[in-house]
Amino acid sequence: MKKTKMILDCDPGHDDAMALLMALAAENIELLAVTTSAGNQRPEKTFQNARRLLALAGCEDVPVAMGAEKPIRRELIIADDVHGESGLDGANLPEPTVSPLDIRANDLMAKLLGGSDEKVVIVATGPLTNVAIFLLSHPELKNKIEFISFMGGACFGGNITPHAEFNIYVDPEAADVVVQSGVPIAMFGLDVTLKAQLFPRDVQEIREIGNPVAATMADLLDFFNRTTTVPFWAEEGHVEGIHMHDPCAVAYVIDPSIFKMYPMHVDIETGDLMSRGSTVVDYDNVFGKDKNVSVSFGLDLPKFRRLIMNTMRHFR
Ligand code: RIB
Ligand code: CA
Repeated sequence: MKKTKMILDCDPGHDDAMALLMALAAENIELLAVTTSAGNQRPEKTFQNARRLLALAGCEDVPVAMGAEKPIRRELIIADDVHGESGLDGANLPEPTVSPLDIRANDLMAKLLGGSDEKVVIVATGPLTNVAIFLLSHPELKNKIEFISFMGGACFGGNITPHAEFNIYVDPEAADVVVQSGVPIAMFGLDVTLKAQLFPRDVQEIREIGNPVAATMADLLDFFNRTTTVPFWAEEGHVEGIHMHDPCAVAYVIDPSIFKMYPMHVDIETGDLMSRGSTVVDYDNVFGKDKNVSVSFGLDLPKFRRLIMNTMRHFR
């Protein structure tokens, strides 16, 4: 089977953890490297979390490199209220058994893309700082990127402000560089990721799989569930599932048929008003601009859940 070469830039982070495991388990993905961004937690913590997840999965041969310490222009905002003090609260993860690599994300991306005879997919599940810095510092390697798949933004709504999603809000300037780069982009915003839900019965099914990865992921999902926000419009008795935001961006690489994608023009609000970090998705093509992003608005949820369960069963 032909494997898609992929780099995952992430800020683990509970949903990032599932996204990473999906990439490791997928038979049609060759995960070249993991790079870590500052977002859910501070850079040194997301870096350590990525290394611990690879140790848990028995995949410490995958290189990991830490990225930028902070957004391009702004101070770092973290989501410790959601992901906890460690960034992966709720489970006991093993310590890495290999020494950290002495290379930064930007340099590792350049080394891998420059040395690859095939195009590489970059998936980003945190703020887009590292991807933007790479695009700005290595424009000559843009043509080695097959496409960028990122979790972030929203056509309608937000989760850190009424109009902005966390990953974009943290580093709007980076998101602007990415969407204006000319590289093919697939965007998985809240419009689709809030529909990508796992429920307590799914977590129980994962726990009953019985391998150490599934058991640890079940613990992480139980913790993540406690911070799941219930929509204000929910009726009495409504059960909101756990939002699997980041796995959408990886699932698209594994099986694009899971998602409904719509080419649209997307701009990023980089000002400092109340709309900071909003992704302005021209869904009616009012401005008649180039359709620079393929935006997801729907998914085949049973197919998505099967992919997650197969991921959990993959690990021994
Ligand atoms: O808004 C959801 C995004 O913010 C996800 O990537 C989650 O991990 C957090 O980083
Ligand atoms: Ca994330």
